[in-house]
Amino acid sequence: MTVFSHPISFVKEAAPLVRLCWEMGWNEANGGNFSWRLPTSEIEGILARHYPDLIPGPANPIPIDEPGLDSEYFLVTGSGQFFRHAIDHPNQVFGIVQIVAGGTAWRQVWGFSSGARPTSEFAMHLVAHAVRKRVSNGRERMILHSHLPEFIALSFLAPLDSRALTRALWEKMPECIVIFPDGVRVVPPLLPGTVEIAEASAAELERSRIISWSHHGIFVSEESPDRIFALVETIEKAASIHRRILGAGGAKQVIPTEILKQLSEKFAALMVARPEFLDEE
Ligand code: 13P
Ligand code: ZN
Repeated sequence: MTVFSHPISFVKEAAPLVRLCWEMGWNEANGGNFSWRLPTSEIEGILARHYPDLIPGPANPIPIDEPGLDSEYFLVTGSGQFFRHAIDHPNQVFGIVQIVAGGTAWRQVWGFSSGARPTSEFAMHLVAHAVRKRVSNGRERMILHSHLPEFIALSFLAPLDSRALTRALWEKMPECIVIFPDGVRVVPPLLPGTVEIAEASAAELERSRIISWSHHGIFVSEESPDRIFALVETIEKAASIHRRILGAGGAKQVIPTEILKQLSEKFAALMVARPEFLDEE
């Protein structure tokens, strides 16, 4: 087990998660990105204590205004930064930025030691944070985008449809409906980093923490490193089982709907939402 320490407790927690995502084969090279909406007074206290001489950078406009995020701080991976380097070079891989000017701009307050800027998906992350902060009453704080091999493979083999994909995954492992009762919402193939994909994603994020960018990867929102990792590893495991079944000629049977319904009753207290796709077609 790697021993890793950092004066910023959030970097201390995020760097091992980000490195683990690389080890899992989810985030090759600079593939994928991560952001964390930090508790304001805590991060201001940490920065004042450990980095008293920091001077915030200039304001940079964001493409979609997010008034609901004004003055929030985000720990975010830099564009072009490798998840593999998160432990060895945390101050280069990560930066901390603050949203300013009524939610119309960001400014850097810490990190990005080699001069990186926030991920090219930062505007998308902010859209997602704004939606999920509201929908989850502030519980969710973290966004992870990963290029999951099994999950992406499915977007070439199975219909690009939220219900079909969600059911296919739920029907392969009993844990799935408990861990992601809100399902996986499919965003059609669109150019990454555009306002168009951000708007299509925002609509789906109103209903789930999990979206699939078809032929590209997963984009998920959760509360903590443990929860976001658990969510993604469960989805990737189910995707892998489903893909193996497809490769072997298709399922002869699946977990019956009745059992899925019983699971969702039995474990209702653990679930973040009531499952939507349990009706028979
Ligand atoms: P960044 O290096 O800008 O974060 O881009 C990686 C990626 O996966 C884009 O979708
Ligand atoms: Zn990507």
